[in-house]
Amino acid sequence: MAGEEKKLKTAVFQEETRIFNPPKDLVENSNVMKWMKKKGFKTEKEMRAWCSSDEHYLEFWDEMAKTYVDWHKPYTKVMDDSEMPYFHWFTGGEINITYNAVDRHAKGKKKDKVAYIWIPEPTDQPTQKITYGDLYKEVNKFANGLKSLGLKKGDRVSIYMPMIPQLPIAMLACAKLGIIHSVVFSGFSSKGLMDRAADCGSRAIITVDGFYRRGKPVPLKQNADEAAAGAPAVEKIIVYKRAGVDVAMKEGRDVWWHDLVKGRSEECEPVWVDPEHRLYILYTSGTTGKPKGIEHATGGNAVGPAQTLHWVFDLKENDVWWCTADIGWVTGHSYIVYAPLILGMTGLMYEGAADYPDFGRWWKNIQDHKVTVLYTAPTAIRMFMKQGPQWPAKYDLSSLRLLGSVGEPINPEAWMWYREHIGRNELQIMDTWWQTETGTFLNSPLPITPLKPGSCTFPLPGYDISILDEDGKEVPLGQGGNIVSLKPYPSMLRAFWGDKERFMKEYWQFYWDVPGRRGVYLAGDKAQRDKDGYFFIQGRIDDVLSVAGHRIANAEVESALVAHPKIAEAAVIGKPDEVKGESIVAFVILRIGNDPSPELAKDAIAFVRKTLGPVAAPSEVHFVNDLPKTRSGKIMRRVVKAKSLGNPVGDISTLMNPEAVDHIPLIV
Ligand code: WT7
Repeated sequence: MAGEEKKLKTAVFQEETRIFNPPKDLVENSNVMKWMKKKGFKTEKEMRAWCSSDEHYLEFWDEMAKTYVDWHKPYTKVMDDSEMPYFHWFTGGEINITYNAVDRHAKGKKKDKVAYIWIPEPTDQPTQKITYGDLYKEVNKFANGLKSLGLKKGDRVSIYMPMIPQLPIAMLACAKLGIIHSVVFSGFSSKGLMDRAADCGSRAIITVDGFYRRGKPVPLKQNADEAAAGAPAVEKIIVYKRAGVDVAMKEGRDVWWHDLVKGRSEECEPVWVDPEHRLYILYTSGTTGKPKGIEHATGGNAVGPAQTLHWVFDLKENDVWWCTADIGWVTGHSYIVYAPLILGMTGLMYEGAADYPDFGRWWKNIQDHKVTVLYTAPTAIRMFMKQGPQWPAKYDLSSLRLLGSVGEPINPEAWMWYREHIGRNELQIMDTWWQTETGTFLNSPLPITPLKPGSCTFPLPGYDISILDEDGKEVPLGQGGNIVSLKPYPSMLRAFWGDKERFMKEYWQFYWDVPGRRGVYLAGDKAQRDKDGYFFIQGRIDDVLSVAGHRIANAEVESALVAHPKIAEAAVIGKPDEVKGESIVAFVILRIGNDPSPELAKDAIAFVRKTLGPVAAPSEVHFVNDLPKTRSGKIMRRVVKAKSLGNPVGDISTLMNPEAVDHIPLIV
C-alpha cells in the first residue's frame, strides 16, 4: 500500500474535453429511463444520488431484489451489518439461483427461447443453440449425477473446463444442489489448479479430455490428475469428452460425464439455501502472492449482476448478448452465466481464439448471429487495433447497438478506435469498473450517460463509491486518491476462504480506525475525478510511480505511448533514481510494419512529453517483441520491472506467455 506518502499530490495531466452524448432513442427506450419515469426522477444525477443515499439505498436494493429474483421464502431484513465487515444480505430468505436462472424460464414462456448460442472453434463443427428447456434437462441430469456421487450442499467442487456449454451446466448443477463451485481457468497449469483445489478442499474436479485451441486439440485431463495428487480431498474426477484426446481413467476415481448422466432423471428439486450460502469461490488473478479465494454469496449474486446487466447494457427480449470473457474469470461468472440467464436472455459463447482461423473470427461471429451488445476488454481492442481496421471492415456489424469494456483503464486512443471501427462512430461504450471481489460493476455509464473517453463515469445507482486521501478525507474534484466503497452492496465478497486475517488486512484495515470510516472498503485502485465529477481509474495502488514528487500512474504513461501511431502496447516501470526517486522506463511493442530505431525511441519520448508533460516523459524506451501477461491479459509490470532491473522475477507459473520474460532486456 502507498502508506508512506502522506500527501496525495496527483497531477491531472490531461483533461478529457470530448463528450459523447447518447442518442435520443437509446435514452428514451432504455430500461433505466423507464424506471426513472415510473419513479418520477428528472435527471440522471438526481436518480443516481437518490439510489445510493444513506436514506434510500436499502429501499432501492429491496425493490431490485424483488424485481429480478423469485424468493422461495421472502427475506425479513434487507441488510444486516452487525458483524461488519461481514455484511449479510436478505436475511431470513430462501433461494435457489439455478431455479431463477433456468427452471422458471423452462417452465414458462421462455422454454423454447435460446439461452446460449455456442460456437465451437473448429469451423467444420456446427454452432449449437441451447434453449432454456434444453438447459433445464441437462442441468438436472448432471445434478442428479453429482448427487449419485454423494456430493451435497456445502461441498466444494473445482471446475476446470474450456468455453463449452458444459461449463455453465456444471456450475448451474452445483448451484442447484447448494454445492459451492470453484471455477479454475482452463489456461492455468496443473499447479494452479492444485493450489486452488487444495486450498478450498474440493471433493471433485470436473474437467474435459481436451479442448481446441487454434485448430489443435490440447489435452487437459492430465493436469487434473496432477492436481489431484496434491489436493487430498479430491475423490472424483468427472471428464467430459470434448476433443477426443486419449486419456487415462483411474478406476474408482474417474468417471465420464456421459456415463454419469446416462439414464438420469430430467427433473431435480432445487435445494433451497440461505441467501448467504456461498455460491462460489473464485481465486483472484492477483499479481502478487498466493491466490485469494474470494467467497461469493448466493442471494447477492442473484440480484446484483442481473440488475446491473439490465440497466447498464440495457438488455431487451430480442437482444443477443456477447461477453467475450472466459467463464474462468468473474466477468464470465456474473455476465455470461448468472445475470443473462436470470434475465432470460440469449447469450453467445465462443470456444476459441480471437485469431482463429484469422482476425476476422469475432466479427464473423457478430455478423452470423446478429449480436446486438458486445462486452470485451481493452487488451482485445488494442490487439485488433494492432492488426488494423480491415478485419472488422470485412463484416456486417450493423446489428450492434451498444458496446462495453472491462478489465483495465481503457486508453482514450483505444476507446476512439473501438467506437469508430466497431461502433460505426455512433455507439456508446459502457466502461465498467469493478473487481472479482465486487461481483458486479460499481462504476459505469448507463445508456443515458454522456461519455468521456477513458472514464467509467459515475457510481451506479445503489453503490456509494468515493475517492479518499490516506487520512480518510474525500479528495476534491481534480485530485486523486484511493477509490473506496462507502457502503455494502448485495454482490460484494463475503470473506476469503480460510483466511480471515488477510481479508481484514487487504480491504478493511486501512480506514478502520478513522472516525466515521469503519467498514469502508479499499478497492486497491487509484482514481481521480475531473471537474465534472467523472471518475478516471489510474491503475492499482502499487502501480503508481513517484517521479520528482509527482504521482504518476503507470497506466497513464502507457496510455500516452499507445496513442503514438507506431506503438501497439506498452509497459512502464519505475527505475530507482537518486534525484527523482524514480525515472520512467518504457518497454514498447510496435505496430506491425514499423521497425525499432533510436529515432523512434526519441520520438516516443517526445510524444509523451507533449501529451502528458515533461515530468511524465520516459527517460528510456526499449523495444520488445512481447510483454509478459497474466491469463486475463494484464501486463505484469512487476515481472517486467524485476527482469529489467536484474532482480529475481519470482513465480511466473501463472503467466500466459512466460517466454516473454526472456525478451525483456537488462537496463541497469
Ligand atoms: C481490477 C480488477 C472486473 C472483471 C475483470 C477484472 C482493473 C477492471 C476496469 C475498468 C479501469 C479496471 C482495476 C480493478 N479494472 N475494470 N473499467 N477501468 N480499471 O477483475 O482481475 O479482479 O481485476 O481490474 O484495477 O481493481 P480483476
